[in-house]
Amino acid sequence: MFSKTVVENMAGGSWIRAMFELGNQLKAQYGTDKVYDFTLGNPDPEPPEAVLAQMEQLVRTPNIHKYMSNAGFEDVRGKIAAYMERESGVAFTAKEIIMVTGAAAGLSITLKALMNPGEEVIVLAPYFMEYNSYVGNQNGKVVPVKTLPDTFQPDIPAIEKAITANTKAIILNSPNNPSGAIYTEESLQALARVLDEAEKEFGHPVYVISDEPYVKIVYDGVKVPSVAKIFKNAITVNSFSKSLALPGERIGYIAVNPTIEDADTLVAAMVYCNRTLGFVNAPGLFQKVIADHLDEAAGLEAYKERRDLLYDILVDAGFSCMKPQGAFYLFAKCPMEDDSAFSQMAIKHNIILVGGSGFGYPGYFRLAYCVSYDTIRNSAQAFKDLYKEATGK
Ligand SMILES: Cc1ncc(COP(=O)(O)O)c(C=O)c1O
Repeated sequence: MFSKTVVENMAGGSWIRAMFELGNQLKAQYGTDKVYDFTLGNPDPEPPEAVLAQMEQLVRTPNIHKYMSNAGFEDVRGKIAAYMERESGVAFTAKEIIMVTGAAAGLSITLKALMNPGEEVIVLAPYFMEYNSYVGNQNGKVVPVKTLPDTFQPDIPAIEKAITANTKAIILNSPNNPSGAIYTEESLQALARVLDEAEKEFGHPVYVISDEPYVKIVYDGVKVPSVAKIFKNAITVNSFSKSLALPGERIGYIAVNPTIEDADTLVAAMVYCNRTLGFVNAPGLFQKVIADHLDEAAGLEAYKERRDLLYDILVDAGFSCMKPQGAFYLFAKCPMEDDSAFSQMAIKHNIILVGGSGFGYPGYFRLAYCVSYDTIRNSAQAFKDLYKEATGK
């Protein structure tokens, strides 16, 4: 009766909801402080005070709540273009910026504007599984290529092998959800050379869609290389869900490299898709709110403390993992072969986590540490007990 595809796909994704509901159930049963729920990437800090103040101040601005150009307010797009130019050295102007309702919409719009049915999009595992739906919506095919074990850096020869005449794009996400890795300048430069070769061989570009919601959440002074600078066919998708802790407000942007051939038509296609997918335009008030906070990262210090604490707790318990360089996820090696069985075992210790299979990278598990410091601190014994049960050591 209903869409077969949707009903089937819903069944595939229902485990996330099941985990979420399980977490709530356990909290009701044992108390919030006895349940260590590391499932969701929902930022725990409130938005910065200056952002909240600006919301209040802007709310009565005349014409701010009306329909507007589908690409968004010109002045806001100008500020983002200047920011993108500062970060990348590429000469962006307002006309290459499209305001969107978060990165999810930005990715959907980008893929709709680019793809013909049956074309392929390479994704680097571990990856944000929603990419499967966004590409699937365009009747495209996701081609996962695993990153290198332990460092989670792109495996350049493997990517080279995966590229075919049908490859339309590759999605990069650095800092990465779920690994916390930042792809190095060196590996991105190597990838750029591979994509140049592919363009020559197949006679069409392979677009680089850079999904960057975590670009401001980085630790230890590590610099995130600019994808817009390295790849001439780059399309940057960014949002303020994580950097300003505003995921409920749905605000972000797409920046199309002016170096893309026929960039004007691509931008026009994206603006059209923004409208016809039903987003119409990004929220007016929030376009104005974020425009003066492009460089900020809400709660960065707190995330760093939590990362350090969680890392120490895990290593102390016996787990092995890379110390994340960015985002607010830690991706640790699963001490059992089956990461789904491990996540079930964790529940017995009131730890809720997501197995690596949920990110196309079995044998690992993800912890989202955008939770309170106390939740992490209180979980230390539970992780020790879990490791013991999983390994018998
Ligand atoms: C890698 C990645 N991309 C995109 C998104 C979607 O972000 P937004 O809230 O901006 O739509 C998320 C959200 O968790 C994410 O982790």
